[in-house]
Amino acid sequence: MSTDTQVSNRWSSRYAYVLAATGAAVGLGNIWKFPYIMGENGGGAFVLVYLLCILLIGIPVMMAEVIIGKRGRSTPANAIAHVAAESGRSTHWSLIGTIGVIAGFLILSFYAVIAGWAAAYVFFSGSGEFSAAAANPVTNADVIGALFTELITSVSQLMVWSTLTLIAAIYVISKGVKKGLETAITYLMPALLVLLVGIMLYSAVVGDFAAAFDFMFHVDFSQLTIEGALVALGHAFFTLSLAMGIMMTYGAYLPKGVSIVKTSITIAIADTIVALIAGLAIYPIVFANGLEPSAGPGLLFQSIPLAFGSMPFGDFVGTLFFIMIVFAAFTSVIALLESPTAYLVERQKMSRTKAAVVAGVGIWLLSLCSIYSFAGADWTKLSFGMGGDIFEFLDYLTANILLPLGGIFISIFAGWVMKPNILQEELNLTGTPFAIILILLRFVAPIGILLVFANAVGLL
Ligand code: PHE
Ligand code: NA
Repeated sequence: MSTDTQVSNRWSSRYAYVLAATGAAVGLGNIWKFPYIMGENGGGAFVLVYLLCILLIGIPVMMAEVIIGKRGRSTPANAIAHVAAESGRSTHWSLIGTIGVIAGFLILSFYAVIAGWAAAYVFFSGSGEFSAAAANPVTNADVIGALFTELITSVSQLMVWSTLTLIAAIYVISKGVKKGLETAITYLMPALLVLLVGIMLYSAVVGDFAAAFDFMFHVDFSQLTIEGALVALGHAFFTLSLAMGIMMTYGAYLPKGVSIVKTSITIAIADTIVALIAGLAIYPIVFANGLEPSAGPGLLFQSIPLAFGSMPFGDFVGTLFFIMIVFAAFTSVIALLESPTAYLVERQKMSRTKAAVVAGVGIWLLSLCSIYSFAGADWTKLSFGMGGDIFEFLDYLTANILLPLGGIFISIFAGWVMKPNILQEELNLTGTPFAIILILLRFVAPIGILLVFANAVGLL
């Protein structure tokens, strides 16, 4: 990726762009977060609302972001200002970019910690902890659960992992090591998918697949609260890496002649498939072992190791699985660090390396809040608002407030502020298909987000 503000180089191909954007999209959001928030929010109805949010809001907003980035050929705030000026509007719209920078900064502070959990699990699996636990099927789930608790209450261990994650990300971002990443994503993303499908099949055999399928796809709206709908909406943004300027940044490198419509849909479909398969891999194990779907952030880490424990070559497969999760998380970590870094380069005129270090150190300091939250430290417990701890607060603030807010502004900007002919030209669509996207951006996305948001926070 280019190191200066004005974008000079492009992705080497359409394929390279789709891979990089898919790498940013597919991550812990799919494999760690989606399964547990689905469990906390009742299953099927949540999944349906989530899928609708992806289709009707996420995909159009993604197209809008890519268009802004491509048209502006610059970092997010400048790209928005450029497109606003081209449309004869105020360049103050570039403030949308600022929301994204803040959200990216806050998200990475806990994302890096969870990536650290996955890294620790590479070694748990490699050293045979899961198969050892499986030796006694009666205590199996308890032993795996204790392993997890021991990890998340070990502040020093988690600090080591999140520190290493952030240092590696700072290095990659400051050097702009794009080539290596492209190659790695080319092989590791498909490998992750194959492995996930394999684990799903194995879970289906040893676990309770029927219960899992029913839980995920039997729609019962009495199980879904309005807060749950907001979680689904916020997650649609989170999982597609939207409203953080990421897709604008990636769009800025888009070669001419690549279809924004097709690539956006491809990325969204790939992301959705990984999330659904992750759910179908985890839930049969959850139900067969009497675990709680509402177990929260530990769900993945307390369920899937049970499958590895009993699987032939399970220690090996488990090690591979967690290595790939670490990798999928890392491509997202890099995308997340890119947005505050680009902001510092652009606004504070820092060198790229200095900007990456400054952003990285800030994020590292904030990550301590999430680490101590998981460890249960008293000072992380919040007395105001909805209670919970600092991690839960950061998660709520970003996914349920900042991202939907950013989504409203982006859709309004693309639907109403930007000249429609820019939209049409970049989408390269006419007639009904164009009208549909315009209606989604003008009405469905902003009004839908506003209604869900206002209802959930009690304004309506
Ligand atoms: N989309 C990523 C995931 O699902 C998270 C992410 C958000 C990455 C924002 C980059 C930017 O895990
Ligand atoms: Na995702």
